[in-house]
Amino acid sequence: MKNIRNFCIIAHIDHGKSTLADRLLEFTGSVTDRESQAQLLDSMDLERERGITIKSHAIQMNYTYKGEEYVLNLIDTPGHVDFSYEVSRSIAACEGALLIVDAAQSIQAQTISNLYLALENDLEIIPVLNKVDLPSANIEVVTDDIVELLGCEIEDVIPASAKTGIGIEEILSAIIEKIPAPTGKIDAPLRALIFDSVYNPFRGVETYFRVINGSIKKGQHIKFVATGKDYFADEVGTLRLKQEPKKEICAGDVGYLITGIKEAREIKVGDTITDAKNPTTEAVAGFEDVKPMVFAGIYPVDTEDYEDLRSSMEKLQLNDASLVFIPESSAALGFGFRCGFLGMLHLEIIQERLEREFDMTVITTVPNVSYHAFTHKNPEVKILVNNPTDLPDPSSLNRVEEPYIKASIITKSDFVGSIMSLCIDKRGQITNQNYLTPERVELTFDMPLAEIVFDFYDRLKTVSKGYASFDYSPIGMRASKLVKVDVLLNGSIVDALSALLHADNAYDIGKKMCEKLRQLIPRQQFDIPIQAAIGAKIISRETVKALRKDVTAKCYGGDISRKRKLLEKQKKGKKRMRLVGNVEIPQEAFMAVLKLN
Ligand code: GTP
Repeated sequence: MKNIRNFCIIAHIDHGKSTLADRLLEFTGSVTDRESQAQLLDSMDLERERGITIKSHAIQMNYTYKGEEYVLNLIDTPGHVDFSYEVSRSIAACEGALLIVDAAQSIQAQTISNLYLALENDLEIIPVLNKVDLPSANIEVVTDDIVELLGCEIEDVIPASAKTGIGIEEILSAIIEKIPAPTGKIDAPLRALIFDSVYNPFRGVETYFRVINGSIKKGQHIKFVATGKDYFADEVGTLRLKQEPKKEICAGDVGYLITGIKEAREIKVGDTITDAKNPTTEAVAGFEDVKPMVFAGIYPVDTEDYEDLRSSMEKLQLNDASLVFIPESSAALGFGFRCGFLGMLHLEIIQERLEREFDMTVITTVPNVSYHAFTHKNPEVKILVNNPTDLPDPSSLNRVEEPYIKASIITKSDFVGSIMSLCIDKRGQITNQNYLTPERVELTFDMPLAEIVFDFYDRLKTVSKGYASFDYSPIGMRASKLVKVDVLLNGSIVDALSALLHADNAYDIGKKMCEKLRQLIPRQQFDIPIQAAIGAKIISRETVKALRKDVTAKCYGGDISRKRKLLEKQKKGKKRMRLVGNVEIPQEAFMAVLKLN
C-alpha cells in the first residue's frame, strides 16, 4: 500500500486536464505511440468532438522513482457543472489532486469550486501552472494568483506544459513525494467506494471502485449498501489501457468490477461495496441519489416512431442512469416522454445521442426546472411540477417553490457592473464580492435555477466578452411567484409551448416569445395569429402573414420531375417540424423561449 498513489486532476474547462493526463501516460510508458490518440481518456466520440470529459474513468500507471516501483492511479473527473456530483465522488476516491491552472487564463470558477471539493475531502493539492509555452502565458502573475489562492509557496507551483512536456517529471516526483499513500485496513471487512460505472453492451455494467478497507476477490459474494442488492464478483481487475483481470484488489487500490449487471440504474455512484456475509458497519460517507435538475418533453417528429423512441430511450438509460423519463402525452405533439436531465448540457447530449446512435429525429420542448406546488386544500402536501401542465389551477394554489442555486462567477473587474445587472435581471441576489487580485473578482449570487436554464450562459458570455467563468451548486427550494404562460396558435393553445415563468417577467417574456415565434414559424397559405396568454388573459399578439406565392406554381406545366425534386427538397427541410392543427412548428420554436435576446 505504501507505494500506491491515488490522484485526480482538477481544472477549469480547457486548462489542459486531458492533455496532461495523456502526457503522464506517455512519460510513464503506459501507452505506446501507436495507442496514443489525441485524447486517450475521452473514449466516447461525442466527448472527443466536444472536447469535454463527460464520464470519468480511471487509469493505472507504473513509475519507478528513486529505485522504487510505484503504482499511480489517475482518476479522471468530469469537467462540467452538470456532472458535479460525479466529480465529488471521484475526488473522494483520491488522496491528492493536481490543480491545473492555465498560465494565460489564470484561476476560473471551476478551478475554485473543484479546489473546494478537494479540500473538503482533505486532498493534498499539487498546483501546476500549465501552458507555460504559450506566448500569452503570464507566468509570474498567475503563479502569484495560485500562491494567493492556496496559501502555498512560489516553489510549490510547478511550471509545466502538457503540450511540450515541460514539468512532467517534476509533477510525477511531486505526486510521489507529496501525496500520502492510502491508509486502509487490509484485514477489515470490505469497504469500497463506487466512483463511476460504465455501460458495456457485451459485458454488462463495469463498476469502478476504490477499496478503502479489505479486498475484493474474484468470485466473492458482495453487496451494495445503498441499493441493498447483492452480486457475485465475476471479474475484478486493474484499469490499464485495457482491463487486466486480477484475483484480488486490495485496500488502497483502484479497480473495476463486473457482475453481470445489465442496467446502469442498478449501480449508484457514491454507493459502498461490501462483503455480503461479513459487511462493513460503515458505508463511505457522501452517498446521494442524483436528482435530475431540468425537465423537458421529448417527442418523435413522426408520431409513428413513438415505440422506436421508447426502445431507444430505454437503451440510452441502460448506460446513462442519470437519465430519467416517463411517458406523457401532449394535445399538440401526441405521445412522448417527460425526461429529467442533470442540466442543459446533459439534455443536449441525450438529444444528440438519440439522433446519432439511434437515428431518431426528435422534438424537445421548453425545458423547465422542477417546482413544488402546494394547494390551499392541502398546504402541507407537496405536488411535484415537472411539466407546465402539472401546475394546479392558480386559484387553488397556496404557494409555489422553486430550486435555487449558489452561483459563482469569476471575471475581470471591468465587467462587474454588467454582470451584476445581468444577475439582478435574472432575479439573483449578490451575496459576496471577493477580489482575488485587483483585476479579478469572484461574485457570488443566490439565483433561481430556472434563470440559468433560460439563456444565461449566452448572455453572460456577451456581457463579459467571454471573460467570465461560471459554476453553481444547488441550495434548496424557495418561494416563488410563478405563472403559466400559454401560447395560442390560430386560436388554440399549443400545450408543448407553455412555459412556467416568474410573474414579474411573464408579460415581457410572453411578448418576446410571440415575436420570436413569428420569425420562426414558416408562412403558410393563411394568416397565423400567435398569442401569449396567462389564464384567459391575452398578453401579446403577433401574426405570421399568409404566403402570397405557391412555391410549386412556377412548375405548373413544366417537367414533373422538377416539381418532385422541389417537393423532395421541402420535405428535407421539414425534418424537424411538427404539424400542430394546421400550423407547422419547427423545433427551434419549442426552444424559442430560451433564446429571446
Ligand atoms: P476539458 O476536458 O474540456 O475539461 O478540457 P481539458 O482541461 O481536458 O483541456 P484539454 O486537455 O482538452 O486542453 C484544452 C486545449 O488546450 C487543447 O486545445 C490543448 O491542445 C491545449 N493545451 C493543453 N495543454 C497545453 C499546453 O501546455 N500548452 C499549450 N499551448 N496548449 C495546451
